[in-house]
Amino acid sequence: MRCIMFKHLYTKDGKHKVRKFPDGFMFGTSTASYQVEGGWDADGKSENIWDHLTHKDPCAVKDCSNGDIANDSYNQYKRDVEMMREMGLDFYRFSLSWSRLLPTSFPDKINGAGVQYYNNLINEMLKYNIEPMVTIFHWDLPQKLQELGGWTNPHIVDWYADYARVVFELFGDRVKYWITMNEPWVICYQGYGAGVLAPLLEISGMAEYMCAKNLLLAHAKAYHIYDKEFRSQRDGNIFITLNSRFYIPETENDLQTSNDLADFELGTYAHPIFSENGDFPPRLKELVAIKSTEQGFARSRLPEFTTKEIDFVKGTSDFFGLNHYTSSMIYRNESVVGYHKIPSYYDDVQAIIYQPDEWKSAASPWLRVVPLGFYKLLTKIRKDYDNPTVFITENGFSTFGGLEDDDRVSYLRQYLDAMLDAMNEGSDIAAYTIWSLMDNFEWVAGYTERFGIYEVDYESPERTRTPRKSAFVYKETIRSRSLDH
Ligand code: NOJ
Repeated sequence: MRCIMFKHLYTKDGKHKVRKFPDGFMFGTSTASYQVEGGWDADGKSENIWDHLTHKDPCAVKDCSNGDIANDSYNQYKRDVEMMREMGLDFYRFSLSWSRLLPTSFPDKINGAGVQYYNNLINEMLKYNIEPMVTIFHWDLPQKLQELGGWTNPHIVDWYADYARVVFELFGDRVKYWITMNEPWVICYQGYGAGVLAPLLEISGMAEYMCAKNLLLAHAKAYHIYDKEFRSQRDGNIFITLNSRFYIPETENDLQTSNDLADFELGTYAHPIFSENGDFPPRLKELVAIKSTEQGFARSRLPEFTTKEIDFVKGTSDFFGLNHYTSSMIYRNESVVGYHKIPSYYDDVQAIIYQPDEWKSAASPWLRVVPLGFYKLLTKIRKDYDNPTVFITENGFSTFGGLEDDDRVSYLRQYLDAMLDAMNEGSDIAAYTIWSLMDNFEWVAGYTERFGIYEVDYESPERTRTPRKSAFVYKETIRSRSLDH
């Protein structure tokens, strides 16, 4: 285990505190293909589930917008790289569009224009020593595969693995950091269970678990392909990015409920990969099975892994990729059924989840500032999964716009501080990534919530990008490799 020591430095007055990041710590920013690229049908790209949703039902998105043009990064990639240079980033995390690279969804036809676009972007970054961190799948599934059931169809394990092999072959000579999947819980629960993101399926308590099993197997298959055939090209790394809140128990009696919620959200994906025994968390199996029996099902709603599959998935992540934004208070309540709008595992767990009004809020209704939750989550990960090397692959704050984003600056400082607290106690954290490099299409919130440290002007044809105050603060943090209070 690598042990990182870092220093607290105080000025003469004893108040002003500077905290150093350890040597080799990496700083980056992040985006995702559908949220920034545009060029939705350019040069042979086919339709993905977000193209499909936003064209079929434009006002499924808050401002009735879409990602047809988005930030026009398909054409403005040089400006994107210029911004990375302005800030002195060590790496930039972006994602590949499956339907841009493989318009039929399968490797029978590789779209040269799509390959060219990513080659241009990667080469431009490498020219300035900015490492590409590439997410292979960040939610924009080819529509055709969705029509075949998407992540609930077991064949997707091979569809995804074939796609992954293509991108390793195309870009593996230059990419050192690969992320297989972005936020499986969101893909499966919000896309197939709660119906809040494309494909908007509301088959809660069933579909998210089918999705989870296939997604984990697909991830593992890509990991093994890379590990055996491509890793040596650049002595590269491959990992998965999970998301989680921290669930703060109201009282000690709510501790089990807090752990149960973590098992459903983080554990569904972390336990099979990072725990010693692999497989879905025992408690998850128990909770889903008990409810099923009560309701007369002959079997659990959670699909089973075979012993061979458990071994196939176990240990398939070089790092623990973590996206974290906020936390919630929770307490146990046996009459919870019907309390939450969508019947879900909250009912299985019998949990009430809320965020107190006193917590400072962002533009996104789900996002409040709770740095203590970040510290607690990092501590939990250190304890539950044997102190894995963590890459923070997303953390960020939304506003309604404007260059003077003091609330984002304050969020950033508090969250970095909480992260350093966890590192001080032994958490092995090697990288931090702000979501996002620039404003972008925030899924069903459209362009109404702005996460960028660069502002994007959507009125201008070239989508002019301008640094916000937070960009200057981040730049200085990166330059000094320290956090200055
Ligand atoms: C997580 C997702 O990965 C990203 O696509 C999204 O925009 C941010 N969170 C903010 O909600």
